[in-house]
Amino acid sequence: MSLRTLRIVALILGAAVTAASAGIIALGATGSGALPQALTLIGIVAMSGAIALAALSLAHLLRANRRVMQTLDRLAQDRQRDHAQLLDQVDQVRTALTEQSQAIHRGLTWQLNRINGEQKRLYPELEALIDLRASLPLRAPLPPLRGWAASPDVLKWMTTWMRDHQPRLVTECGSGTSTVLFGYLAQQTGVGRVVALEHDQRYAKQTRELAVRHGVAEWVEVRDARLQPWQHGDETWDWYDLTATEDLDEIGLLFVDGPPVSSGKLARYPAGPLLVTRLARDGIAVLDDARRTDETRVSDRWLKEIAGLDRERLPTDKGTDVFRHLLG
Ligand SMILES: C[S@@+](CC[C@H](N)C(=O)[O-])C[C@H]1O[C@@H](n2cnc3c(N)ncnc32)[C@H](O)[C@@H]1O
Repeated sequence: MSLRTLRIVALILGAAVTAASAGIIALGATGSGALPQALTLIGIVAMSGAIALAALSLAHLLRANRRVMQTLDRLAQDRQRDHAQLLDQVDQVRTALTEQSQAIHRGLTWQLNRINGEQKRLYPELEALIDLRASLPLRAPLPPLRGWAASPDVLKWMTTWMRDHQPRLVTECGSGTSTVLFGYLAQQTGVGRVVALEHDQRYAKQTRELAVRHGVAEWVEVRDARLQPWQHGDETWDWYDLTATEDLDEIGLLFVDGPPVSSGKLARYPAGPLLVTRLARDGIAVLDDARRTDETRVSDRWLKEIAGLDRERLPTDKGTDVFRHLLG
């Protein structure tokens, strides 16, 4: 029952009690003896009305209370659900954070190992570069000895070897900074000359200009030698134009650092049958990048196919194989 209905019931009861009271007053005025009975009746009606009103109010209160309880129940359930969802979300965030921190840890460990490895690799290279530069009267800046150029460790090894053995002819497959450094040694020792084969005219010109800047052009010859098909058994390679190497004999130091791998499979193999076989008796052939799969195969084939060769493996950054005639 609503508050409005309760008010209507109270009004009706009030009107009934007022009407009864008015009747009694009228009876009293007429002096009738029924007054005590009428008063009792009014009392009973008024009491009944009050009890009925109280019962109705109580019922109303109970219903309102039940509704409040239901609302509180719903709110509590909602709270519980929200709480469970929140816990679930916290769990998801925690899992995601754990995975992320593990991934970051793995990444950092990998980077740290890489940096450590790089630093271990770089230190000997720096030492070699410092030694190399200190051993030469450099007259101009050198291009960086990274990437396409031979590394300082192998260059230091070869220039030291040149100082000790003073070869008359140094031949190089692939020109660049090494050509100029060999030029310095030829100039210093006063014997010998350097012939570099270059398939790319642009780089041939660049190396010649570098040799001029360093004041060693007199000891250095960069030969333009385009790559041409060369047949050997049933295999074909792109190799330097043979006319560029016709006069090269009794080679003291042969540095095989070209042509680039992009010129074909086992690109440097032809240097074996075509130039290693023309080494002077005390000459050496140096194959750079010997750690690469192709160069490892080339090195193995030379050792197997060219009679009387000995191989030494230098622990350089890119791997270097040195070939000599077997003694005796
Ligand atoms: C492995 S690199 C060897 C260069 C050389 N032996 C040295 O150590 O400086 C082989 C080829 O790189 C190319 N080259 C020379 N100078 C270059 C430069 N500045 N930038 C990119 N490539 C170059 C030439 O075609 C060369 O034959």
